[in-house]
Amino acid sequence: ASTLGAAAAQSGRYFGTAIAAGRLGDSTYTTIAGREFNMVTAENEMKPDATEPQRGQFNFSSGDQIYNWATQRGMKVRGHTLAWHAQQPGWMQSLSGSSLRQAMIDHINGVMAHYKGKLAAWDVVNEAFNEDGSRRQSNLQGTGNDWIEVAFRTARTADPSVKLCYNDYNIENWSYGKTQGVYRMIQDFKSRGVPIDCVGLQTHFTGGSSLPSNFQTTLSSFAALGVDVALTEVDVTNASTSQYAGLTQACMNVPRCIGITVWGVRDSDSWRSSESPLLFDGGGNKKAAYTSVLNAL
Ligand code: XIL
Repeated sequence: ASTLGAAAAQSGRYFGTAIAAGRLGDSTYTTIAGREFNMVTAENEMKPDATEPQRGQFNFSSGDQIYNWATQRGMKVRGHTLAWHAQQPGWMQSLSGSSLRQAMIDHINGVMAHYKGKLAAWDVVNEAFNEDGSRRQSNLQGTGNDWIEVAFRTARTADPSVKLCYNDYNIENWSYGKTQGVYRMIQDFKSRGVPIDCVGLQTHFTGGSSLPSNFQTTLSSFAALGVDVALTEVDVTNASTSQYAGLTQACMNVPRCIGITVWGVRDSDSWRSSESPLLFDGGGNKKAAYTSVLNAL
């Protein structure tokens, strides 16, 4: 196959990218994105600050722009994200306790009702753990340790057809505390029947560090709990070809690794643009990392 999406589809997987609504007028950007990918994540437009800027007043204009752009081209869409300590609207940042708990539930219900039956997956909860595997202290955590399972139960009822994911970064290395903390939560949810379908590993690789050699073990270990896994926000410092090939190969080796999403199109589109971490350069040319990924799919 000659594109990332088509190559991934040969094994029943997808290859996605983050899309920013503000770039949809850039024809170099939309040409590459429309050609190469078959899954889209809104980079910021479906986050709580974007979708519920005032309490109870939802705004889906930018999210829908991305949704419509993608689905008109036959691409699927991952929802990102419903409950997170970051990118909360101001009104939510100042809430706590039972009023924040209710606001979280209302937010999940409001956003999921709008996209009901339309999305492939939702990142229901994002980044809820510390590096040592304990829970991140946040206003959401302050509402009680059960906030994550409440979010997932609310989400399942709001849209029973969409896959419900937990998404986080630095959970790629199997021997890392955070990975183990997330693993134990998924294990606990599965044993108690808390609804969860997938784990998203953001896969933001930094520095000169090589791919964790146990990355595939992490993917297969999560999968063995009975969830799908996906690489949801991939970018790699200087787009190391060996790391890109290795992470692609790790996903390909795990049957329940259902797809890979890179966190942007060109280096110039990246939130880490100074690190040139993506598969296309600022001019829209394929980089060596592109070929290493395509060959591994
Ligand atoms: C980033 C976006 O790329 C930026 O444009 C924004 O300013 C901050 O958020 N983990 C996530 C993503 O789950 O939502 C973040 O996206 C990157 C880290």
